[in-house]
Amino acid sequence: MTDDLFSSISFRESTARNRVMVSPMCQYSCDGDGLATDWHRVHLGSRATGGAGIVMTEATAVEPRGRISPDDLGIWSDDHAEALAPITEFIRDRGALPAIQLAHAGRKASKTSPWDGNQPLQPDERGWEAIAPSADPWPYEDTPPQLREMTTDDIATLVDDFAAAAERSLDAGFEIAEVHAAHGYLLHEFLSPVTNDREDEYGGSLENRTRIVREVTEAVRDVWPDDKPVFVRISATDWLPERESWTIEDSVHLADRLGDIGADLIDVSAGGLHPDQRIPNPGPNYQVPFAERIREDTDVPVGAVGGITEPAQADALIRNGRADLAIIGREHLRDPYFTLHAAEELDAEDSVEWPIQYRRAVQ
Ligand SMILES: Cc1cc2nc3c(=O)[nH]c(=O)nc-3n(C[C@H](O)[C@H](O)[C@H](O)COP(=O)(O)O)c2cc1C
Repeated sequence: MTDDLFSSISFRESTARNRVMVSPMCQYSCDGDGLATDWHRVHLGSRATGGAGIVMTEATAVEPRGRISPDDLGIWSDDHAEALAPITEFIRDRGALPAIQLAHAGRKASKTSPWDGNQPLQPDERGWEAIAPSADPWPYEDTPPQLREMTTDDIATLVDDFAAAAERSLDAGFEIAEVHAAHGYLLHEFLSPVTNDREDEYGGSLENRTRIVREVTEAVRDVWPDDKPVFVRISATDWLPERESWTIEDSVHLADRLGDIGADLIDVSAGGLHPDQRIPNPGPNYQVPFAERIREDTDVPVGAVGGITEPAQADALIRNGRADLAIIGREHLRDPYFTLHAAEELDAEDSVEWPIQYRRAVQ
């Protein structure tokens, strides 16, 4: 039988009820200390109620400097785990798997939230000194946040921070940990020669530039239980073909290595590293060919993300073996009940369960 959008899928001993994953999406809705608020509870809880198989948090900072804005979620103390615990419990009660995206913003840190203009923040105005593989700020900003090149001690600390964050995530009740190595944030900055000028063992060759992502994934894998999955989100390309940059070939190589380390899925996004990026066709399925390529050339399952908005489109990705998960972002902002509505549209009502409280509206 061919798998479809409503087939369950298992990663190790964790089974998602279907192939829909809510893509990680920053909500900029903490109160300045990285703690989850009622907004996160309602936002993530609604998407679990809406039928998705996996509900992932926004990028969650492993240390305070790893936040994009002061309003981002964090997981650098036990208080953060405690604030997230009721949310994971609710997501599970609604039948979805709770997942957390572990992140560090690198040189893209210390900004205001989008509705305040993504403006650089200095240390005397709620900002902080950012860290990155090299001290080149995000280009074309008049007053970039303060930025410092990481020492090798900083790198060792960062790997430990990811492991400690994973341990706390487990305490908070998460089933899946995802390492965020995409979108021009810290780990991606190490991967790409555009943002990594280092001359030590973390810069230069592909082997060296991928080292930190392998070390972080290994460290998270070490503390995450053997029966639970670890995902890694990557940008499959920098979308900068005119210059020496991170490419799909590099991504295939990395995905293969991550599979050997024990990554259970590569969440295949793209870009976000540099403002000069040019996306040739930013329409439906615009990043799917990268996911498909990694799926073909490695043994690691993949999630496809980007421009997936229609139930039949998501279903086709799974049926045609282009991806193992359909990862859906903005459409979930428009419709928290995407999966329940998709079942209606695809005549698969028996594959989902509306909340008992809402049945009078659907029978
Ligand atoms: C409001 C918003 C916040 C986002 N925050 C994150 C994030 O925290 N981590 C991440 O990896 N991607 C983030 N993204 C990217 C999405 O996860 C997704 O990859 C992107 O929106 C493309 O998928 P879509 O076309 O289904 O929206 C964000 C996107 C949006 C719209």
